[in-house]
Amino acid sequence: MTDTGPAPAPMASGRQGSATRTDGAGGVELRNVTKRFVTPTGAAMTAIRDVTLTVEPGQFCAVVGPTGCGKSTTLTLAAGLEMPSAGSVRVSGEPVTGITKGASFVFQSDALLPWKPVLDNVALGPMFRGMNKAEAKERARDWLRTVGLAGFEQHYPHQLSGGMRKRVSLAAALINEPSMLLMDEPFSALDVQTRAIMSNELLTLWDRQKPSVIFVTHDLEEAIGLADKVVVITAGPGTVKAEFEIDLPRPRGDVQSIRFNKRFLELYQQIWEALREEVDEAYARTSRTADRAQAAGGRV
Ligand SMILES: Nc1ncnc2c1ncn2[C@@H]1O[C@H](COP(=O)(O)OP(=O)(O)O)[C@@H](O)[C@H]1O
Ligand SMILES: [Mg+2]
Repeated sequence: MTDTGPAPAPMASGRQGSATRTDGAGGVELRNVTKRFVTPTGAAMTAIRDVTLTVEPGQFCAVVGPTGCGKSTTLTLAAGLEMPSAGSVRVSGEPVTGITKGASFVFQSDALLPWKPVLDNVALGPMFRGMNKAEAKERARDWLRTVGLAGFEQHYPHQLSGGMRKRVSLAAALINEPSMLLMDEPFSALDVQTRAIMSNELLTLWDRQKPSVIFVTHDLEEAIGLADKVVVITAGPGTVKAEFEIDLPRPRGDVQSIRFNKRFLELYQQIWEALREEVDEAYARTSRTADRAQAAGGRV
């Protein structure tokens, strides 16, 4: 990390749990969705099968499941980047036929342009949508202030820490006022403390705009701390194994402290029961594949 200039400020606080989305936009409905891909060897492989999943407008849904079970695939279907092989995908009540309007993505890696200062990176979205440059930069400046990065506008992404780059990514996503926010393991490359800070900040920002969120994570604690609903996906080809309503009160406050809450622990235990079997199954399959490869003398 090569931070120069002022330290990042804490994010402007907002009261969680206050706003509700009134326009009804952003709800996601996957109904009996199957997605098959053709692998490089020409074989068909099923990434997800018969997935039925509803996220209400303004709802925060976390998706957990073992590696390779189709979590990222599910997000790309909601984003309209891929079309289902069977079943239907609707966002804001409309069938998805191309790139979904009103969707913003946040990935594990920061999808920032390394050759542009962060102000320009954040201003890109509105400019693509036709806003003039000066206005887009003004809004980007406001957003950088909101995520505690006033004073860093002219820094390049590589001059920021991982946590600060993640704030830039969040600003770049939220400046578009998405009705649906798709997050693919967004915090998993961050250290534990930064991750907790980012989780709290995400909840504050979510509460202001109330997009519906699909948040993919490996981390069950993170999922429960953030979400209204946790969906467990089976080992691949993934399908919905179980859904759990997270009835912890909002505002959640500090996501690290809520982990000591009795109800949190109950939910954790309950959901982990469902998730563990799938993680074990995925692991056993990987081991079997590795054994076969070894038996074949390294040829798979
Ligand atoms: N574009 C693609 N072409 C071929 N196979 C793919 C493609 N995208 C994903 N897959 C396969 O689909 C399965 C699910 O992938 P993914 O959705 O990335 O899982 P997860 O995000 O849960 O780890 C994996 O076996 C992966 O290799
Ligand atoms: Mg993935």
